[in-house]
Amino acid sequence: MIHHQVLVVGGGLAGLRAAIEAHDMGADVAVVSMVYPMRSHSGAAQGGINAPLANHPSGRDDNPEKHGYDTAKGSDFLGDQDAIMIMTTEAAARIYELEHWGCPFSRYEDGRIAQRPFGGADFPRTCYAADRTGHYILHTLYEQAVKRRIEMYNEHMVQSLAVNDGRCYGFVALNIATGELVPFQGSAVIFGTGGVGRIYGHSTNAIINSGTGIGICYQAGVNVEDMEFIQYHPTSLWGTNILITEGARGEGGYLVNNKGERFMEKYAPKAMELAPRDIVARAIQTEIDEGRGFENEYVNLELMHLGKEKVLEALPGIHDLALNFAGVDATKEPIPIQPGQHYTMGGIESNVDGETSIEGVYAAGECACVSVHGGNRLGGNSLLDTIVFGKRAGEKAAKDVAGTRASESAAAAVEKAMTSVQRKLKAIEDKRGKEKHGILREELRQNMFDRVGIFRDKAPMQEGLAKVKELQERYRDCALNSDTKRFNIDLYRYLELGAMLDLAEVIALGALTREESRGSHYRRDFPDRDDANWLKHTIAAWTPQGPKLSFKLVNVSKWQPVERKY
Ligand code: FUM
Repeated sequence: MIHHQVLVVGGGLAGLRAAIEAHDMGADVAVVSMVYPMRSHSGAAQGGINAPLANHPSGRDDNPEKHGYDTAKGSDFLGDQDAIMIMTTEAAARIYELEHWGCPFSRYEDGRIAQRPFGGADFPRTCYAADRTGHYILHTLYEQAVKRRIEMYNEHMVQSLAVNDGRCYGFVALNIATGELVPFQGSAVIFGTGGVGRIYGHSTNAIINSGTGIGICYQAGVNVEDMEFIQYHPTSLWGTNILITEGARGEGGYLVNNKGERFMEKYAPKAMELAPRDIVARAIQTEIDEGRGFENEYVNLELMHLGKEKVLEALPGIHDLALNFAGVDATKEPIPIQPGQHYTMGGIESNVDGETSIEGVYAAGECACVSVHGGNRLGGNSLLDTIVFGKRAGEKAAKDVAGTRASESAAAAVEKAMTSVQRKLKAIEDKRGKEKHGILREELRQNMFDRVGIFRDKAPMQEGLAKVKELQERYRDCALNSDTKRFNIDLYRYLELGAMLDLAEVIALGALTREESRGSHYRRDFPDRDDANWLKHTIAAWTPQGPKLSFKLVNVSKWQPVERKY
C-alpha cells in the first residue's frame, strides 16, 4: 500500500500549489492525477489572473478592498466576504511569488507586470502572459514541484475515498495505464480536480472536466455547495465552443449583432463589453433569440479595429484559434462567438483553509466552493483562487498531518474501500445491458444545456430533473464494449458518468429550489434577486434517495448587497 502524509488529487494549479506548500511545510506529499499534470485544464486558461498591483499606466490606485468589492458585487453578493478579502489580500504576494519562480508575465516597458481590464472590474487588474496565462503558470508550478522531487502518480483515477467514522484515511485509485487498483493511504487528501463543465453541452471545458473529483467526494458523504451556479462564458467560438478570452474585450474588442450595433449599450451602458459574464452572456443569448444574431446562432466579436500588431502581440492564441478552428483571420474579419458553459461556481463545501465536512478531506480551486465567486465569478479570479486557496489548503493539511505515519487502522479502512471497489468493477465487467454510456452522456449534456441553462424556468427544469433520473435508471442497464485492462477508455467514461449523473441531479434540484435570480442563475419565473429569502448558500448531501438540501447564510461582514448596475 502506498503511503504519503498528504495526498493531493489533481495536477492542475490548485493541486500543484497545494503540494508545493505542503512539501515546504515539511510534509511527505504526493500528487495523484488523472492526466499528466501538464495536460490539466488549468493550462487552457487564457486571459489572466487578478491582483490589485496598481501597475496600470493610468496611475489609478488599487487595493484589496476595491478588488474585494468588485468580486462581491460580481458574485451578486452570494460570495462570502470574509473569504473574498482573504483572496484579494493575499493576491499580490502570490503573483510576485510566481514572478520570482520564473512565470513569464507580459510586462510594461519599465519592467513591471502588465495588467489589462477584465469584466466587472472597476480597475485594470488582470495580470497576464499574452493569452496563455494558465499555460505559463502551470509550467511554473510544475517546475517547482519537480524541483522539490514531489512524487507524482500520473494517469491514476481516484475511485473511492476510504472513510471510516467520519474521517478519511486515503483512497483507492485505478491505474489507467495498467488497469490495476492501487490503494493509497494518507492522513490528508486534498482535492484540486476542477469543475463539472462536461455535464453540459457547449462547454469550453476539456473532456477531463467531468467533475469526478467532486462526485467522488459527494458520494463519500462530503457536502457540496451552490452547485446550481454554472457560469457561461460570453465568448466561445461558434460551433466548437473553444474559449475566446475575455482579454479580447479587455484589449478593446466589440460585440456586434446582425444590425451592426454594439448591443451591450442596451444591457450595460457604462461597462459595455466589460460587464460581468452573467450579464454579457445573457445579452448575447437575448440578441440571438430575438433574431439579431447570425444564422440564429452567434454574434460577432470584432478585433479588426485594434490593428494587426496589437492582436498578434496581446492575443496571439486567439488569432491562431480563430484561424485554425473557424477559418477567420481576426485581424481582418469578425470572430463568430456564442456563450458556452465555462465554470462551476459551486463545488465541495470548503472553508478558507480547504477543510471540508469530512475530517482529512480538503479542497481548493474550481472543485471547491469557499465561496469567493458566489453567483457569478469574475474573469481572472479563478486562477487567483487556485493559487491562494491551493497554498492555504496545503499549509493547513501539512500542519494537521505533522507527526502522522502509516497505521494499521488506516490501512484497514483503505483495504475495506479496496474490496468494495473490486466488487463494483467485477459487477461492471459482468454486466450485460443494452444501454450505451456514450449515448447517455450526450443526452445528459444536451438536457442540462437546454433545460437548466442560461435562462431557466420551472417546467423545463422539472423535465430536466426527471430526465436526469431517467438517465440514472438507464445507467444501471449499461454494458461495456471493452474488457481491456490497459487504457480502457470505455470503462473510465462509464465510471465518470455515474458521478456526472449524481451531480447533475444536485444542479437541477438546486436550480429548481432557488426561487430567485442571482448571478448566473436566471429564472424567467423569478426574475428578481430575493435577498430576504435567498441570501444563502445551498448545501447538498448525498443520500440513497437523492440529494438532501439545506442552507447556510452568506457572510456579509463588509458590504450590504445593492442592486448591480454596470
Ligand atoms: O476569458 C478568459 O480568459 C477566461 C478567464 C477566466 O475564466 O478567468
